[in-house]
Amino acid sequence: MTTLLQPSPGYGLGLRAPYYEAILASNPPIDWFEILTENYLVAGGKPLHYLDRIRERYPVVMHGVSLSIGSTDPVDFDYLGRVRALAERIRPRWISDHLCWTGCGGHNFHDLLPLPYDDDVIRHVAARVRQVQDFLGQRILLENVSSYLQYRHSTMPEWEFLSAVAGESDCLLLLDVNNIYVSATNHDFDPLDYLHAVPAERVQQIHLAGHRNHGDYIIDSHDQPVVDAVWALYARAIETIGPRATMIERDDNMPPFDDLLAELAEVRRVAGEALAAA
Ligand SMILES: [Fe+2]
Repeated sequence: MTTLLQPSPGYGLGLRAPYYEAILASNPPIDWFEILTENYLVAGGKPLHYLDRIRERYPVVMHGVSLSIGSTDPVDFDYLGRVRALAERIRPRWISDHLCWTGCGGHNFHDLLPLPYDDDVIRHVAARVRQVQDFLGQRILLENVSSYLQYRHSTMPEWEFLSAVAGESDCLLLLDVNNIYVSATNHDFDPLDYLHAVPAERVQQIHLAGHRNHGDYIIDSHDQPVVDAVWALYARAIETIGPRATMIERDDNMPPFDDLLAELAEVRRVAGEALAAA
């Protein structure tokens, strides 16, 4: 049977500046790193210097936040040209961004905003994904975002929308299990309904992260360890979808590097147990 997916490189971490030196000094047992694409789009400079050296030792994947695939503004081919040039330099396993919009009319809100879920938006986004994939010469991965609002004119749940966009554009998916949990809590749906509806054959990568729970709503903050409920949902994801390249996103309140290595060991343990139970 043919597969849409690249082989899984295993278990990774987000590459963040406070850890550059520790990584180069200790060669930690991490299978791959995910970079934030926008941090490396300028020619030269310290970030690219470190990335080139770390890339010599580890596989990397590229994760962007500026594609704004759902916007009504034209696709930004100037930005995409810089993404493509970086990809030619570092040869990532794959390139991802988010199923969202970040601005329109030339205004950037600097936030990953959810889209209305209906057939017109599916067609709109899928056409743009195909443009991007044609330009980059490869399938991209789109990630489900955390959301804090819903649109009255949505006609389907998020998981149907995500699946339809992926099918119509022939793209791959980056499933953020924490984002599913956050949105399920904020919008009162069952996260297992989401997991069971996702087209497993298109899920190339999984994200895990911590969040802040404010009681009746959750903010996706990436500044805490992964919580027990998200570990449990991750185990269900692996049972349902199968083994997938998984990484932890940590972007604020940065802990000692050894704490992240311990959390990554927990990813391996939870995934291993879930696969044994599946
Ligand atoms: Fe994520």
